[in-house]
Amino acid sequence: MSGIAVTGSSGRLGRSVVTVLRESGYDVTCIDRTVPDGETNGRAVDLTDGRDAAAVMAEVKPEAVIHLAAIAVPFSAPEDQILRTNVALAHNVFGSAIEAGARTVVTASSPTVFGYGSPNGWMPEALPLTEAMQPRPWNAYSLSKLVAENVASMFAAKHGDALRFASFRPCYVIAPEEWRGAPTQQGNTVRQRLDDPQLAASALFNYTDARDIGDFLRTLVEHAHSIPNAETFIVGAADPLCREPLADVLPRFFPELAELARPLTGSRPAFSSEKAERLLGWRASRSWRSELADESEAMYTENAGGTR
Ligand SMILES: NC(=O)c1ccc[n+]([C@@H]2O[C@H](COP(=O)([O-])OP(=O)(O)OC[C@H]3O[C@@H](n4cnc5c(N)ncnc54)[C@H](O)[C@@H]3O)[C@@H](O)[C@H]2O)c1
Repeated sequence: MSGIAVTGSSGRLGRSVVTVLRESGYDVTCIDRTVPDGETNGRAVDLTDGRDAAAVMAEVKPEAVIHLAAIAVPFSAPEDQILRTNVALAHNVFGSAIEAGARTVVTASSPTVFGYGSPNGWMPEALPLTEAMQPRPWNAYSLSKLVAENVASMFAAKHGDALRFASFRPCYVIAPEEWRGAPTQQGNTVRQRLDDPQLAASALFNYTDARDIGDFLRTLVEHAHSIPNAETFIVGAADPLCREPLADVLPRFFPELAELARPLTGSRPAFSSEKAERLLGWRASRSWRSELADESEAMYTENAGGTR
């Protein structure tokens, strides 16, 4: 396979995905509303416009598409806008990619589909969370991601196994510069999230290095035609973003989870990526323990003038 189109290629996750794919020798087309200066194979397109989405896919004719473009932060826009935008993006990208001849389409979902953080309380079936457990979205963002998973299933039902579809739920994405002190998606640094467990508790301490997700996506695209169609994968680090075992920490923030958290001893995370390992042989290779060198955050702050 040579041609892969990545939507949302300019984003926190997309940049690393494009880098990993290109380093592996793939011909990658970057599709985003805005494409950085210097990108030689980019298309600036608003993919909510179905005709523009169809035109860019017809021109690029990718063999595989990795769809990351979205309003990526819950409550960062009005609820109806998040739902409408993310659902339209998923449907437009899948439909136009297939029409243009793509054989594999993968979409970003989110672990938030599980429904943790609901103001009405949350009680999962068990911990760690697996793909077999019931999603319970409680806001437009997580609902839009569950719909994107279902868009993948819908096209699999329509086209059968000649074409392959998949979705993945990336845990809180840490881009390479964020290990060096750049702000993470929620505005705080990785080190702040470690120092103040309250910050990462709302995501149950999940995280993944963006380059590890790039490796996952490369592996998924390469093996999509030898695994079952329309699978969903949790993609997370092998440990939680926390200095203490979750069996001890989770009950402090969520007393109702104390019993379920008991198995999360040592460095076991609350989100299991066992399925990705079983079906694809993928396992995250980076951890905050390996990536956070002592002096690195100070270095970033100096270089950036402390402004980011
Ligand atoms: N960052 C995380 O922790 C995280 C966690 C779970 C899921 N995800 C999902 O992963 C994907 C990537 O997330 P991210 O953190 O890189 O987000 P991001 O906001 O950094 O990047 C999203 C990109 O999509 C582009 N985009 C948005 N609307 C578009 C449109 N109409 N047409 C074309 N391009 C458009 C944006 O310009 C941006 O470059 C998203 O689908 C997000 O929901 C992210």
